[in-house]
Amino acid sequence: MSDLLNNSALLSDLANWYAKSARDLPWRELENQHDPYRVLVSEIMLQQTTVATVKVRYKEFLQRFPTTKVLSDASVDDVLAQWEGLGYYRRARNLQAAAREIEEKHGGVFPRDFEKVLSLPGVGRYTAGAICSLAFEQAVPVLDVNVARVLSRIFVVEEDTKSTFAQQRLWELAAQLVEESAENNIAPSICNSALIELGALICTKRIPLCSQCPVQKHCGAFAKNLQHQLPRTPLKKESVSRHDICLFITQTENNHTKVLLHRCGENENANKSGKKSGNWWHGMWQLPRATVAENQSAEDAARLLLQGELGIDGEIKERLKTLRHTVTHHKITLDCFDVQLKRNDDSYQKDNTPKSTFSWHTFEEIETLALPSVMRKLLDNLLATQKDGGLLELMQ
Ligand code: ADE
Repeated sequence: MSDLLNNSALLSDLANWYAKSARDLPWRELENQHDPYRVLVSEIMLQQTTVATVKVRYKEFLQRFPTTKVLSDASVDDVLAQWEGLGYYRRARNLQAAAREIEEKHGGVFPRDFEKVLSLPGVGRYTAGAICSLAFEQAVPVLDVNVARVLSRIFVVEEDTKSTFAQQRLWELAAQLVEESAENNIAPSICNSALIELGALICTKRIPLCSQCPVQKHCGAFAKNLQHQLPRTPLKKESVSRHDICLFITQTENNHTKVLLHRCGENENANKSGKKSGNWWHGMWQLPRATVAENQSAEDAARLLLQGELGIDGEIKERLKTLRHTVTHHKITLDCFDVQLKRNDDSYQKDNTPKSTFSWHTFEEIETLALPSVMRKLLDNLLATQKDGGLLELMQ
């Protein structure tokens, strides 16, 4: 079993296993693996998105924004559109803000100093550690939930892994391992990637594959048969239900149908209790949307939004679709209502300045805008129905 003083056998078993078993992932390609910008992009994407998705989206993102200069010169809209479907859009904004800082503050050269890397927007201790170790081969640790799980098992850390005490201990262990690996001629990038890989492939959350584990003989939890009890985590935050409605409002002029969309501001997605809970959709486009209050019907909420908040002279018609989606721990049911305008209302069109948060958009424009995934699904469906309907009308 491992102790804190000498982990060379553990590290060499881990490194040998990694050399044989590591997955072939695009950010590990030899010619690019030491590019700090690429490490930044992959690590930010991997924070809340699965490896399978990131494999594809990472390549696409780098094709569109191959350098910090290109990303820094792009419009925020372009960056958000490229991020579409990955969720947690603040990551895309931060990525661009980091690229701009590198261009403006560091003369276009990615900083190598840990503290400077850490001060980039959206970069926390984990990401800074990943950049400095994977790109620059500095002996600095990484600790995400996967590495924390591996270390809490090998070194039997029994406290809740989110507690300050356990976090301190786990960071210490991760630091000790990467420093020792450097002393044993194992590159920091190999040590840290191998810990990440072990967490992903073998030391998994529910059913760890201990029989295949390259460091089984060094593992304290395995020796004590505690691998299924560790890491200890607090109970999950209970999920909250929420009921939203949105409005499909269209008007047709000279054979061009346009849809009324709303660009989300910074603090709009108030939850049921009225508490603002961040900017899930900041800068993205949606159908006009509201949350149904307690004791209110979905139709009433739709009418209030249409006639009250938007001040549009129209009628709520049928419920076109109901979709369910989840944002953080909110389980949202989204009803979409059709709206019939009493007259073509161009008041939003007149106010179509960059500042206005409501504006009319053609189907073609909608294809290029950044939309939350649930809205993309909804609009794809509604617009396809409209197009088919239109075609049918022409054919009759
Ligand atoms: N998850 C977080 N970082 C990762 C990496 N560099 N490779 C694979 N999975 C990861």
